[in-house]
Amino acid sequence: MSNTVIVGAQWGDEGKGKVIDIYAQKADIVVRYQGGNNAGHTVVIDKDSFVLHLIPSGILHKGKLCVIGNGVVVDPKALLEEINILESKGIKIGKRLLISRDAHVIFPYHRRLDELRESRKKKKIGTTKRGIGPCYADKVARLGIRFVDLLNDKVFKDKLNENLEEKNPIFSKIYNVEGYSFDELYKEYSGYAEKIKKYVCNTTVFLNDAVGKKKRVLFEGAQGTLLDVDHGTYPFVTSSNSTSGGASTGTGVGPNKIDKVIGVVKAYTTRVGEGPFPTEFSDDLMERIRTKGKEFGATTGRPRRCGWFDSIVVKHSVMVNGIDEIVVTKLDVLDDLDSLKICTAYKYDGRIYKDFPSDIEVLNNCEPLYEELSGWKKDTTGITKYSRLPKNAKNYLGRIEKLLGAKIVLISVGSERKQTFSNE
Ligand code: GDP
Ligand code: IMO
Ligand code: MG
Repeated sequence: MSNTVIVGAQWGDEGKGKVIDIYAQKADIVVRYQGGNNAGHTVVIDKDSFVLHLIPSGILHKGKLCVIGNGVVVDPKALLEEINILESKGIKIGKRLLISRDAHVIFPYHRRLDELRESRKKKKIGTTKRGIGPCYADKVARLGIRFVDLLNDKVFKDKLNENLEEKNPIFSKIYNVEGYSFDELYKEYSGYAEKIKKYVCNTTVFLNDAVGKKKRVLFEGAQGTLLDVDHGTYPFVTSSNSTSGGASTGTGVGPNKIDKVIGVVKAYTTRVGEGPFPTEFSDDLMERIRTKGKEFGATTGRPRRCGWFDSIVVKHSVMVNGIDEIVVTKLDVLDDLDSLKICTAYKYDGRIYKDFPSDIEVLNNCEPLYEELSGWKKDTTGITKYSRLPKNAKNYLGRIEKLLGAKIVLISVGSERKQTFSNE
Protein backbone atom coordinates (compact mmCIF):
# COMPACT_ATOMS: atom_id res chain seq x y z
CA MET A 1 0.00 0.00 0.00
CA SER A 2 1.16 3.50 -0.83
CA ASN A 3 0.58 6.61 1.30
CA THR A 4 -3.18 6.96 1.27
CA VAL A 5 -5.74 9.43 2.56
CA ILE A 6 -9.18 8.14 3.51
CA VAL A 7 -11.90 10.80 3.58
CA GLY A 8 -15.63 10.85 4.19
CA ALA A 9 -17.42 11.93 1.02
CA GLN A 10 -20.72 13.09 2.55
CA TRP A 11 -21.64 14.60 5.93
CA GLY A 12 -19.61 12.22 8.10
CA ASP A 13 -20.38 8.78 9.56
CA GLU A 14 -19.87 7.09 6.20
CA GLY A 15 -18.14 4.14 7.88
CA LYS A 16 -14.59 5.53 7.79
CA GLY A 17 -13.69 3.64 10.99
CA LYS A 18 -14.49 0.30 9.41
CA VAL A 19 -12.69 1.16 6.18
CA ILE A 20 -9.62 2.52 7.96
CA ASP A 21 -9.46 -0.63 10.07
CA ILE A 22 -9.33 -2.68 6.86
CA TYR A 23 -6.67 -0.56 5.14
CA ALA A 24 -4.65 -0.28 8.38
CA GLN A 25 -3.71 -3.93 8.03
CA LYS A 26 -1.42 -2.94 5.17
CA ALA A 27 -0.14 0.31 6.70
CA ASP A 28 2.73 0.97 9.12
CA ILE A 29 1.42 4.26 10.53
CA VAL A 30 -2.10 5.68 10.86
CA VAL A 31 -2.45 9.46 11.30
CA ARG A 32 -5.35 11.72 12.25
CA TYR A 33 -4.85 15.14 10.66
CA GLN A 34 -7.84 17.29 11.69
CA GLY A 35 -10.90 17.51 13.91
CA GLY A 36 -10.95 16.31 17.47
CA ASN A 37 -13.23 14.26 19.67
CA ASN A 38 -16.22 15.44 17.66
CA ALA A 39 -15.44 12.34 15.55
CA GLY A 40 -16.79 8.90 16.37
CA HIS A 41 -15.29 6.09 14.32
CA THR A 42 -16.76 2.66 14.95
CA VAL A 43 -14.78 -0.50 14.40
CA VAL A 44 -16.42 -3.87 14.97
CA ILE A 45 -14.10 -6.80 15.60
CA ASP A 46 -15.97 -10.05 16.10
CA LYS A 47 -18.53 -9.19 18.79
CA ASP A 48 -16.55 -6.25 20.18
CA SER A 49 -17.37 -2.69 19.12
CA PHE A 50 -14.86 0.14 19.58
CA VAL A 51 -15.70 3.81 19.08
CA LEU A 52 -12.61 5.94 18.53
CA HIS A 53 -12.86 9.70 18.92
CA LEU A 54 -9.30 11.01 18.91
CA ILE A 55 -6.95 8.08 18.63
CA PRO A 56 -6.47 6.78 15.07
CA SER A 57 -8.42 3.60 14.35
CA GLY A 58 -5.14 1.82 13.53
CA ILE A 59 -4.51 1.45 17.28
CA LEU A 60 -6.65 -1.71 17.23
CA HIS A 61 -3.99 -3.46 15.13
CA LYS A 62 -1.05 -4.72 17.16
CA GLY A 63 2.24 -3.08 16.27
CA LYS A 64 0.82 -0.20 14.22
CA LEU A 65 2.01 3.28 15.11
CA CYS A 66 -0.61 5.99 15.51
CA VAL A 67 -0.08 9.71 15.21
CA ILE A 68 -2.25 12.65 16.21
CA GLY A 69 -1.06 15.35 13.82
CA ASN A 70 -0.63 19.08 14.29
CA GLY A 71 -3.99 19.78 12.62
CA VAL A 72 -5.97 17.98 15.33
CA VAL A 73 -7.42 19.76 18.38
CA VAL A 74 -6.98 17.63 21.48
CA ASP A 75 -9.05 17.60 24.64
CA PRO A 76 -6.58 16.04 27.11
CA LYS A 77 -9.33 14.85 29.44
CA ALA A 78 -11.10 13.05 26.58
CA LEU A 79 -7.78 11.66 25.33
CA LEU A 80 -6.87 10.16 28.71
CA GLU A 81 -10.35 8.68 29.03
CA GLU A 82 -10.04 7.10 25.59
CA ILE A 83 -6.63 5.65 26.43
CA ASN A 84 -8.11 4.17 29.64
CA ILE A 85 -11.07 2.64 27.82
CA LEU A 86 -8.82 1.06 25.19
CA GLU A 87 -6.40 -0.29 27.78
CA SER A 88 -9.26 -1.71 29.84
CA LYS A 89 -10.32 -3.61 26.69
CA GLY A 90 -6.85 -5.08 26.34
CA ILE A 91 -5.48 -2.71 23.66
CA LYS A 92 -1.91 -1.84 24.59
CA ILE A 93 -0.95 1.74 23.70
CA GLY A 94 2.62 1.80 25.07
CA LYS A 95 4.86 3.66 22.64
CA ARG A 96 2.45 3.30 19.73
CA LEU A 97 0.88 6.74 20.16
CA LEU A 98 2.59 9.98 19.15
CA ILE A 99 1.05 13.42 19.51
CA SER A 100 2.26 16.48 17.64
CA ARG A 101 3.78 19.13 19.88
CA ASP A 102 1.98 21.62 17.61
CA ALA A 103 -1.53 20.22 18.10
CA HIS A 104 -3.80 22.70 19.88
CA VAL A 105 -5.30 21.94 23.28
CA ILE A 106 -9.01 22.20 24.09
CA PHE A 107 -9.84 23.89 27.42
CA PRO A 108 -13.11 23.88 29.39
CA TYR A 109 -13.74 27.47 28.23
CA HIS A 110 -13.83 26.19 24.64
CA ARG A 111 -16.49 23.60 25.49
CA ARG A 112 -18.48 26.19 27.45
CA LEU A 113 -18.29 28.77 24.64
CA ASP A 114 -19.40 26.11 22.15
CA GLU A 115 -22.50 25.45 24.30
CA LEU A 116 -23.27 29.10 24.99
CA ARG A 117 -22.88 30.20 21.37
CA GLU A 118 -25.17 27.40 20.25
CA SER A 119 -27.77 28.19 22.89
CA ARG A 120 -27.91 31.84 21.76
CA LYS A 121 -28.01 31.16 18.03
CA LYS A 122 -31.29 31.45 16.14
CA LYS A 123 -29.98 29.17 13.39
CA LYS A 124 -28.18 26.50 15.36
CA ILE A 125 -25.39 24.44 13.82
CA GLY A 126 -26.06 21.48 16.08
CA THR A 127 -22.41 21.12 17.10
CA THR A 128 -21.16 18.23 19.20
CA LYS A 129 -20.39 20.78 21.98
CA ARG A 130 -16.88 19.41 22.36
CA GLY A 131 -15.29 22.87 22.04
CA ILE A 132 -13.93 22.17 18.57
CA GLY A 133 -14.99 25.44 16.89
CA PRO A 134 -13.82 27.77 19.70
CA CYS A 135 -10.45 25.96 19.90
CA TYR A 136 -9.84 26.34 16.15
CA ALA A 137 -10.99 29.96 16.41
CA ASP A 138 -8.28 30.60 19.03
CA LYS A 139 -5.71 28.85 16.83
CA VAL A 140 -6.48 31.17 13.92
CA ALA A 141 -6.68 34.20 16.24
CA ARG A 142 -3.15 33.26 17.40
CA LEU A 143 -4.27 32.84 20.99
CA GLY A 144 -4.23 29.05 21.05
CA ILE A 145 -2.24 26.89 23.45
CA ARG A 146 -0.33 24.02 21.81
CA PHE A 147 1.16 21.00 23.57
CA VAL A 148 4.60 22.58 23.22
CA ASP A 149 3.26 25.57 25.18
CA LEU A 150 1.53 23.41 27.78
CA LEU A 151 4.81 21.60 28.46
CA ASN A 152 6.72 24.84 29.08
CA ASP A 153 5.58 26.09 32.48
CA LYS A 154 6.41 29.75 31.91
CA VAL A 155 4.84 29.91 28.47
CA PHE A 156 1.78 28.00 29.67
CA LYS A 157 1.20 30.42 32.58
CA ASP A 158 1.53 33.45 30.29
CA LYS A 159 -0.78 32.05 27.65
CA LEU A 160 -3.40 30.83 30.10
CA ASN A 161 -3.44 34.28 31.70
CA GLU A 162 -3.74 35.97 28.32
CA ASN A 163 -6.65 33.69 27.43
CA LEU A 164 -8.53 34.15 30.68
CA GLU A 165 -8.11 37.91 30.49
CA GLU A 166 -9.95 37.78 27.19
CA LYS A 167 -12.44 34.99 27.91
CA ASN A 168 -13.61 35.73 31.44
CA PRO A 169 -15.17 39.10 30.47
CA ILE A 170 -16.95 37.34 27.60
CA PHE A 171 -18.47 34.88 30.08
CA SER A 172 -19.43 37.51 32.65
CA LYS A 173 -20.44 40.42 30.39
CA ILE A 174 -21.96 38.72 27.37
CA TYR A 175 -23.30 35.46 28.73
CA ASN A 176 -23.79 36.40 32.41
CA VAL A 177 -22.09 33.26 33.65
CA GLU A 178 -19.06 32.72 35.82
CA GLY A 179 -15.63 32.58 34.25
CA TYR A 180 -12.68 30.29 35.03
CA SER A 181 -10.08 30.46 37.77
CA PHE A 182 -6.48 30.53 36.65
CA ASP A 183 -5.34 28.39 39.57
CA GLU A 184 -7.87 25.63 38.95
CA LEU A 185 -7.20 25.41 35.23
CA TYR A 186 -3.46 25.63 35.75
CA LYS A 187 -3.58 22.75 38.22
CA GLU A 188 -5.87 20.58 36.12
CA TYR A 189 -3.90 21.07 32.91
CA SER A 190 -0.47 20.72 34.53
CA GLY A 191 -1.74 17.32 35.70
CA TYR A 192 -2.73 16.35 32.15
CA ALA A 193 0.60 17.60 30.80
CA GLU A 194 2.43 15.30 33.21
CA LYS A 195 0.46 12.29 31.96
CA ILE A 196 0.55 13.15 28.26
CA LYS A 197 4.10 14.47 27.80
CA LYS A 198 5.48 11.02 27.02
CA TYR A 199 3.46 10.96 23.80
CA VAL A 200 4.33 14.47 22.60
CA CYS A 201 7.03 14.93 19.96
CA ASN A 202 7.90 16.41 16.58
CA THR A 203 5.57 14.23 14.53
CA THR A 204 6.34 16.18 11.34
CA VAL A 205 9.96 15.01 11.37
CA PHE A 206 8.87 11.54 12.47
CA LEU A 207 6.39 11.21 9.59
CA ASN A 208 8.73 12.62 6.95
CA ASP A 209 11.50 10.27 8.08
CA ALA A 210 9.07 7.37 7.90
CA VAL A 211 7.95 8.37 4.40
CA GLY A 212 11.63 8.62 3.39
CA LYS A 213 12.12 5.06 4.65
CA LYS A 214 9.17 3.90 2.50
CA LYS A 215 6.92 3.21 5.48
CA ARG A 216 3.26 3.16 4.47
CA VAL A 217 1.23 5.95 5.99
CA LEU A 218 -2.57 5.99 6.17
CA PHE A 219 -4.16 9.39 6.76
CA GLU A 220 -7.47 9.06 8.63
CA GLY A 221 -9.94 11.80 7.80
CA ALA A 222 -12.63 12.71 10.29
CA GLN A 223 -16.04 14.27 9.56
CA GLY A 224 -16.92 14.48 5.87
CA THR A 225 -16.35 16.66 2.83
CA LEU A 226 -19.65 18.51 3.21
CA LEU A 227 -18.61 19.42 6.77
CA ASP A 228 -15.31 20.93 5.55
CA VAL A 229 -15.03 24.59 6.56
CA ASP A 230 -14.12 25.60 2.98
CA HIS A 231 -15.90 23.08 0.78
CA GLY A 232 -18.93 22.15 2.88
CA THR A 233 -22.38 23.60 3.55
CA TYR A 234 -20.99 26.67 5.33
CA PRO A 235 -21.84 27.76 8.03
CA PHE A 236 -23.31 24.33 8.86
CA VAL A 237 -19.88 22.73 8.93
CA THR A 238 -17.14 21.83 11.35
CA SER A 239 -14.15 24.13 11.84
CA SER A 240 -11.40 22.24 10.03
CA ASN A 241 -10.43 21.03 6.56
CA SER A 242 -11.71 17.48 6.55
CA THR A 243 -10.89 17.17 2.84
CA SER A 244 -7.71 15.51 1.60
CA GLY A 245 -5.75 18.79 1.49
CA GLY A 246 -6.00 18.83 5.28
CA ALA A 247 -3.86 15.68 5.37
CA SER A 248 -0.89 17.74 4.24
CA THR A 249 -1.38 20.85 6.35
CA GLY A 250 -2.49 18.78 9.34
CA THR A 251 0.65 16.61 9.41
CA GLY A 252 3.42 18.51 7.62
CA VAL A 253 3.78 15.79 4.99
CA GLY A 254 3.95 17.41 1.54
CA PRO A 255 1.17 16.71 -0.97
CA ASN A 256 3.67 15.12 -3.39
CA LYS A 257 4.23 12.35 -0.80
CA ILE A 258 0.58 11.32 -0.91
CA ASP A 259 -0.15 8.67 -3.52
CA LYS A 260 -3.84 7.98 -3.29
CA VAL A 261 -7.14 9.37 -2.01
CA ILE A 262 -9.96 7.01 -1.12
CA GLY A 263 -13.48 8.33 -0.56
CA VAL A 264 -15.84 6.50 1.78
CA VAL A 265 -19.39 6.79 0.47
CA LYS A 266 -22.52 5.58 2.24
CA ALA A 267 -24.99 3.93 -0.17
CA TYR A 268 -27.52 6.58 0.90
CA THR A 269 -27.02 9.87 2.76
CA THR A 270 -27.06 10.86 6.42
CA ARG A 271 -26.39 14.00 8.36
CA VAL A 272 -26.33 14.68 12.10
CA GLY A 273 -26.84 18.25 13.26
CA GLU A 274 -28.50 21.12 11.45
CA GLY A 275 -28.05 22.46 7.93
CA PRO A 276 -29.25 21.87 4.39
CA PHE A 277 -29.87 18.33 3.19
CA PRO A 278 -31.65 18.37 -0.19
CA THR A 279 -32.41 14.63 -0.43
CA GLU A 280 -33.61 14.17 3.16
CA PHE A 281 -36.50 11.72 3.54
CA SER A 282 -39.75 13.32 4.56
CA ASP A 283 -41.84 10.22 5.09
CA ASP A 284 -41.77 6.88 6.87
CA LEU A 285 -38.56 6.00 5.03
CA MET A 286 -36.69 8.17 7.56
CA GLU A 287 -37.71 5.87 10.40
CA ARG A 288 -37.16 2.68 8.38
CA ILE A 289 -33.66 3.51 7.20
CA ARG A 290 -32.65 5.02 10.55
CA THR A 291 -33.69 1.86 12.35
CA LYS A 292 -32.23 -0.57 9.84
CA GLY A 293 -28.97 1.40 9.49
CA LYS A 294 -28.76 2.08 13.26
CA GLU A 295 -28.31 5.72 12.37
CA PHE A 296 -27.58 7.25 15.75
CA GLY A 297 -24.48 9.40 16.37
CA ALA A 298 -21.43 7.51 17.64
CA THR A 299 -20.36 10.60 19.62
CA THR A 300 -23.57 12.26 20.82
CA GLY A 301 -26.17 9.51 20.32
CA ARG A 302 -28.36 11.94 18.35
CA PRO A 303 -30.60 10.41 15.65
CA ARG A 304 -29.07 10.93 12.23
CA ARG A 305 -31.16 12.47 9.46
CA CYS A 306 -31.38 10.11 6.46
CA GLY A 307 -32.02 10.60 2.75
CA TRP A 308 -31.50 9.31 -0.77
CA PHE A 309 -28.08 9.06 -2.39
CA ASP A 310 -27.07 12.47 -3.71
CA SER A 311 -24.67 12.29 -6.64
CA ILE A 312 -24.30 16.10 -6.72
CA VAL A 313 -22.82 15.96 -3.21
CA VAL A 314 -20.48 13.04 -3.90
CA LYS A 315 -19.37 14.38 -7.31
CA HIS A 316 -18.35 17.56 -5.50
CA SER A 317 -16.40 15.38 -3.05
CA VAL A 318 -14.67 13.44 -5.80
CA MET A 319 -13.50 16.76 -7.24
CA VAL A 320 -12.38 18.66 -4.14
CA ASN A 321 -10.58 15.67 -2.61
CA GLY A 322 -9.16 14.29 -5.85
CA ILE A 323 -10.74 10.93 -4.98
CA ASP A 324 -9.13 8.08 -6.94
CA GLU A 325 -11.18 5.21 -5.54
CA ILE A 326 -14.45 4.76 -3.73
CA VAL A 327 -15.57 2.41 -1.00
CA VAL A 328 -19.36 2.06 -0.76
CA THR A 329 -20.66 1.20 2.70
CA LYS A 330 -24.02 0.14 4.14
CA LEU A 331 -25.42 -1.22 0.88
CA ASP A 332 -27.24 -3.83 3.01
CA VAL A 333 -29.36 -1.11 4.64
CA LEU A 334 -31.18 -0.69 1.30
CA ASP A 335 -31.91 -4.43 0.94
CA ASP A 336 -35.68 -4.23 1.63
CA LEU A 337 -36.62 -1.32 -0.62
CA ASP A 338 -38.90 -1.81 -3.64
CA SER A 339 -37.24 1.03 -5.48
CA LEU A 340 -34.43 3.51 -4.88
CA LYS A 341 -33.79 7.08 -5.91
CA ILE A 342 -30.54 8.77 -6.88
CA CYS A 343 -30.42 12.55 -7.04
CA THR A 344 -28.78 13.74 -10.27
CA ALA A 345 -29.55 17.48 -10.21
CA TYR A 346 -31.20 20.24 -8.18
CA LYS A 347 -33.84 22.61 -9.50
CA TYR A 348 -34.21 26.06 -8.00
CA ASP A 349 -36.00 29.11 -9.34
CA GLY A 350 -36.26 27.59 -12.81
CA ARG A 351 -32.56 26.78 -12.97
CA ILE A 352 -30.99 23.31 -13.02
CA TYR A 353 -27.88 22.81 -10.89
CA LYS A 354 -25.53 19.96 -11.75
CA ASP A 355 -22.65 21.33 -9.68
CA PHE A 356 -22.90 21.69 -5.93
CA PRO A 357 -24.30 25.18 -5.11
CA SER A 358 -22.88 26.93 -2.06
CA ASP A 359 -25.80 29.33 -1.62
CA ILE A 360 -27.67 28.15 1.47
CA GLU A 361 -30.95 29.52 0.04
CA VAL A 362 -30.57 27.29 -3.01
CA LEU A 363 -29.59 24.26 -0.93
CA ASN A 364 -32.46 24.74 1.50
CA ASN A 365 -35.16 25.27 -1.08
CA CYS A 366 -34.10 23.37 -4.18
CA GLU A 367 -36.04 20.45 -5.58
CA PRO A 368 -33.86 17.38 -5.99
CA LEU A 369 -34.34 15.70 -9.37
CA TYR A 370 -34.20 11.92 -9.14
CA GLU A 371 -33.61 8.84 -11.21
CA GLU A 372 -35.52 5.81 -9.95
CA LEU A 373 -34.07 2.32 -9.94
CA SER A 374 -35.62 -1.01 -8.92
CA GLY A 375 -34.68 -2.49 -5.57
CA TRP A 376 -33.18 -5.97 -5.13
CA LYS A 377 -35.23 -7.17 -2.16
CA LYS A 378 -32.62 -9.70 -1.05
CA ASP A 379 -30.43 -9.93 2.03
CA THR A 380 -26.88 -8.97 1.03
CA THR A 381 -25.25 -9.21 4.48
CA GLY A 382 -23.81 -12.68 3.86
CA ILE A 383 -22.42 -11.89 0.40
CA THR A 384 -18.64 -12.07 0.10
CA LYS A 385 -18.21 -11.74 -3.67
CA TYR A 386 -19.30 -9.02 -6.08
CA SER A 387 -20.55 -11.60 -8.59
CA ARG A 388 -23.08 -12.85 -5.99
CA LEU A 389 -24.77 -9.47 -5.58
CA PRO A 390 -28.33 -9.30 -6.94
CA LYS A 391 -28.52 -7.81 -10.42
CA ASN A 392 -30.36 -4.67 -9.26
CA ALA A 393 -27.74 -4.02 -6.57
CA LYS A 394 -25.06 -4.18 -9.27
CA ASN A 395 -27.16 -1.78 -11.38
CA TYR A 396 -27.39 0.65 -8.45
CA LEU A 397 -23.63 0.57 -7.85
CA GLY A 398 -22.91 0.80 -11.58
CA ARG A 399 -25.09 3.88 -11.91
CA ILE A 400 -23.37 5.54 -8.94
CA GLU A 401 -19.95 4.78 -10.41
CA LYS A 402 -20.96 6.26 -13.76
CA LEU A 403 -22.41 9.42 -12.23
CA LEU A 404 -19.33 9.98 -10.06
CA GLY A 405 -16.73 9.09 -12.65
CA ALA A 406 -14.65 7.30 -9.99
CA LYS A 407 -14.07 3.61 -9.51
CA ILE A 408 -15.77 1.67 -6.71
CA VAL A 409 -13.10 -0.68 -5.33
CA LEU A 410 -14.72 -2.07 -2.20
CA ILE A 411 -18.27 -2.71 -1.05
CA SER A 412 -19.41 -3.11 2.54
CA VAL A 413 -22.58 -4.98 3.53
CA GLY A 414 -22.30 -5.05 7.32
CA SER A 415 -20.28 -3.63 10.18
CA GLU A 416 -17.89 -6.56 10.51
CA ARG A 417 -14.51 -6.84 8.79
CA LYS A 418 -15.55 -9.91 6.86
CA GLN A 419 -18.62 -8.18 5.40
CA THR A 420 -16.53 -6.44 2.76
CA PHE A 421 -15.57 -7.47 -0.77
CA SER A 422 -13.89 -5.97 -3.81
CA ASN A 423 -15.68 -4.85 -6.96
CA GLU A 424 -14.43 -7.74 -9.08
P1 GDP B 1 -17.45 7.00 10.71
O1 GDP B 1 -17.61 8.17 11.59
O2 GDP B 1 -17.37 7.35 9.27
O3 GDP B 1 -16.33 6.09 11.12
O4 GDP B 1 -18.78 6.14 10.86
P2 GDP B 1 -19.54 5.78 12.24
O5 GDP B 1 -18.77 4.75 12.96
O6 GDP B 1 -19.91 7.02 12.97
O7 GDP B 1 -20.91 5.20 11.67
C1 GDP B 1 -20.95 4.13 10.81
C2 GDP B 1 -21.79 3.01 11.45
O8 GDP B 1 -22.16 2.07 10.47
C3 GDP B 1 -21.02 2.21 12.50
O9 GDP B 1 -21.93 1.81 13.49
C4 GDP B 1 -20.50 1.01 11.73
O10 GDP B 1 -20.30 -0.14 12.55
C5 GDP B 1 -21.64 0.77 10.77
N1 GDP B 1 -21.25 0.20 9.47
C6 GDP B 1 -20.12 0.40 8.74
N2 GDP B 1 -20.21 -0.23 7.56
C7 GDP B 1 -21.42 -0.83 7.52
C8 GDP B 1 -22.12 -1.61 6.53
O11 GDP B 1 -21.64 -1.85 5.43
N3 GDP B 1 -23.37 -2.03 6.86
C9 GDP B 1 -23.96 -1.77 8.07
N4 GDP B 1 -25.19 -2.21 8.29
N5 GDP B 1 -23.33 -1.04 9.02
C10 GDP B 1 -22.09 -0.57 8.74
P1 IMO C 1 -17.15 11.48 12.08
O1 IMO C 1 -15.65 11.59 12.00
C1 IMO C 1 -21.00 13.52 11.64
C2 IMO C 1 -21.12 17.75 12.74
C3 IMO C 1 -21.95 18.15 13.95
C4 IMO C 1 -22.41 19.53 13.50
C5 IMO C 1 -21.19 20.07 12.78
C6 IMO C 1 -20.31 20.98 13.62
O2 IMO C 1 -17.64 10.51 13.08
O3 IMO C 1 -17.74 11.31 10.71
P2 IMO C 1 -18.59 20.48 15.59
O4 IMO C 1 -18.79 19.87 16.94
O5 IMO C 1 -17.61 19.78 14.74
O6 IMO C 1 -18.32 21.95 15.65
O7 IMO C 1 -20.03 20.35 14.87
O8 IMO C 1 -20.44 18.94 12.37
N1 IMO C 1 -20.09 16.72 13.00
C7 IMO C 1 -20.19 15.45 12.58
N2 IMO C 1 -21.20 14.81 11.95
N3 IMO C 1 -19.84 12.87 11.91
C8 IMO C 1 -18.80 13.50 12.50
O9 IMO C 1 -17.59 12.93 12.66
C9 IMO C 1 -18.97 14.84 12.91
N4 IMO C 1 -18.18 15.73 13.54
C10 IMO C 1 -18.87 16.87 13.57
O10 IMO C 1 -23.03 17.27 14.15
O11 IMO C 1 -23.44 19.41 12.56
MG1 MG D 1 -18.86 8.86 13.08
